[in-house]
Amino acid sequence: MSSSSSSPKLSITFTGTRHTHSPKQTTAMLERTLSSRRGNSHGDSDDDDLINADDSKTKKQHILFRITNRASTFLSQTRHYVPCLTIAFLLLFAFSFFFFFTSRSFVCISSNAFFKPASRAAFFDLDGLDSDFGALGVPCCRSKHGKTVEWTSKDLLKGLEEFVPIYETRPIKNNMYGMGLDHSFGLWFIARWLKPDLMIESGAFKGHSTWVLRQAMPDTRIVSLSPRHPEKYLKKGPAYVDGNCTYYAGKDFVDFGSVDWSKVMREHGIKDLSRVLIFFDDHQNELKRIEQALKAGFRHLVFEDNYDTGTGDHYSLRQICDQFYIRGGGHSCFKDSDEARIRSKRKKFWEKAVDTEELCGPGEAWWGVRGYMRDNFNHSNKPISYAQHFQNSRYVESILDVYWELPPVAGPSLTHQTRYDPARAPNPIVEDGRYGLFQRLGLGKLDNSVFNGYTQMVYLQISEQ
Ligand SMILES: C[S@@+](CC[C@H](N)C(=O)[O-])C[C@H]1O[C@@H](n2cnc3c(N)ncnc32)[C@H](O)[C@@H]1O
Repeated sequence: MSSSSSSPKLSITFTGTRHTHSPKQTTAMLERTLSSRRGNSHGDSDDDDLINADDSKTKKQHILFRITNRASTFLSQTRHYVPCLTIAFLLLFAFSFFFFFTSRSFVCISSNAFFKPASRAAFFDLDGLDSDFGALGVPCCRSKHGKTVEWTSKDLLKGLEEFVPIYETRPIKNNMYGMGLDHSFGLWFIARWLKPDLMIESGAFKGHSTWVLRQAMPDTRIVSLSPRHPEKYLKKGPAYVDGNCTYYAGKDFVDFGSVDWSKVMREHGIKDLSRVLIFFDDHQNELKRIEQALKAGFRHLVFEDNYDTGTGDHYSLRQICDQFYIRGGGHSCFKDSDEARIRSKRKKFWEKAVDTEELCGPGEAWWGVRGYMRDNFNHSNKPISYAQHFQNSRYVESILDVYWELPPVAGPSLTHQTRYDPARAPNPIVEDGRYGLFQRLGLGKLDNSVFNGYTQMVYLQISEQ
């Protein structure tokens, strides 16, 4: 957002044309995604040996997994061959057992041990659970002209190298209920790249995100809206109160949707609203926030908690756009589908993974947290019809220039994160297996808990109206 020629208003990369997919095409796309493993995009030669070793370890299980999946689909389609196929299936099953016991050491874990990083790590090479990033689809909202951000994965990696030492100096070391490392990095990176003239945050809590914005832009004014003033937390422990920030907090709190933004912009000498960055971490219905931001004329928005379909306490961009016929997203509600099988398996490993029953709900309610439009930390949860939901996604598409989800900082075999399911996330910046890089970046020194807060933070650029 600097006034130079590299302003994000002008520097958008066109990555592709717009496509629509029939359910059949989308299913084929999902099958392809399931059977493909993503390549290394960072060209980190030092770690190549590690990556190859990791690959060969999981390859056998991938092959077995694919054979089993195809056999079961074939079985359901050809019932009259049942006796022969049952024998074949039993043989395959026996073979699987033999394969399993001869190719790796057997580890016994109890059901409630799944979420403990140490015991889960022992299972990492089963079915590629660690590194199947995006295997269940990474939903995204389409932008009108196929635009995307100008930064690349190399820029993210370079940014990360710079950010880790900054993050180590954070005043609030334990930011439970606030942002962890992934989103702190994402917010810092976006703010630093866009170089806005003003930053607005909605949802400050103890002030960690205010501190992150300040690290990105040391001299830029911040406006912070939060019902409780961060200074209140100072009495009990670490908090951050910024000296160059206008707080609408405590008794001065005003909700984002009720602020007279033209007046606030005048007070801050802002004439061009496309040079303002808004950061939402207030757990409000994101559709409502988009409409309010659009009405005020803002164009650059970041949503911290872009909850995946079936999770979270408010209606999120991901939920709005995750539909069957939308590119990159969608899922199947058939109980005997590949997706259902994979989802139920993954639910045991990742706290935020959602199985098909939870995801789809009764009847047609398959689009979000069982068809509810949640708002305000789930204090309000209005059921919405499929038609309404579909309209919402169309509306969002019609006003979007860019939708970009921050990738996780590093893969779970490195971070030992236990919450988000990699199968629903884009490839991480530091991929699984890149232990050397992970250490070199200083990420190995951080407490594991800082990696547990990833919820697909998203940057949106709204079209000029
Ligand atoms: C998850 S916390 C924010 C965490 C913070 N951004 C951080 O990184 O540490 C959510 C915050 O939103 C605040 N909040 C609740 N309703 C709000 C509203 N309508 N507008 C702005 N903030 C709100 C809560 O009081 C809480 O401080």
